[in-house]
Amino acid sequence: NKMRKKIVAGNWKMNMNLQDGVALAKEINEALVADKPNCGVVICTPFIHLASVAQVLDQNVVGLGAEDCADKEKGAFTGEVSAEMVKSTGAQYVILGHSERRQYYGETAEILKDKVQLALKNGLKVIFCCGETLEEREGNKQNEVVKAELADSVFNLSAEEWKNIILAYEPIWAIGTGKTATSDQAEEMLAYIRSTVAEKYGKEAAEDTTILYGGSCKASNAPELFSKPNIDGGLIGGASLKAADFKGIIDAWK
Ligand code: G3P
Repeated sequence: NKMRKKIVAGNWKMNMNLQDGVALAKEINEALVADKPNCGVVICTPFIHLASVAQVLDQNVVGLGAEDCADKEKGAFTGEVSAEMVKSTGAQYVILGHSERRQYYGETAEILKDKVQLALKNGLKVIFCCGETLEEREGNKQNEVVKAELADSVFNLSAEEWKNIILAYEPIWAIGTGKTATSDQAEEMLAYIRSTVAEKYGKEAAEDTTILYGGSCKASNAPELFSKPNIDGGLIGGASLKAADFKGIIDAWK
């Protein structure tokens, strides 16, 4: 009944050396080619894995993405990886605005705005993350925090550009903590996010926007989360590092 695209995306974070990463990608690809998913599947890997992983994926079944890209186009920025470089590996997606990047690497709304622009300009689809801290939730500020994160980095986009945006709501207190938001909490926030998208881009665009939940999502809680009307899939950390765990979440759409 949900017409918009459903997606389960893995975020490997800083895990897996090259050999283990390629082996995992191969295993995921084989499992999903043999048993076709009922949703879009994406794996987002460290930069150094991208080119090799691209070679072992059937991207009609499993898409590939990076976990970040630079806020500059090219040039003297030692250690950075541009959106164009990401795209040239065969990747089609990039995660931007993950709370770990905001928290540990000082990514501001302004920086993220530039990253989003460059990613889109280079033909990548953006999985844009938002989410509040525990303190903000306890102060009942989650809606205003999330709305500001969207307003400050992605609501400047044109309607045409918006079509390449996937949103991911990840409450910081649920990431890697084993503490999932309840499906009602997640649904409530995703419905709110969809309403803010509707205010900005209209109801139809909002209905077409894929919005994911992230934070301790696993095979055991995915069916309940994905049964909610506004939850279009998940952005998966820990449980994306084993093929069977990841496939278990993907199968929640069956
Ligand atoms: O981006 C996914 C993420 O932050 C959730 O991580 O380990 O709680 O599934 P995890």
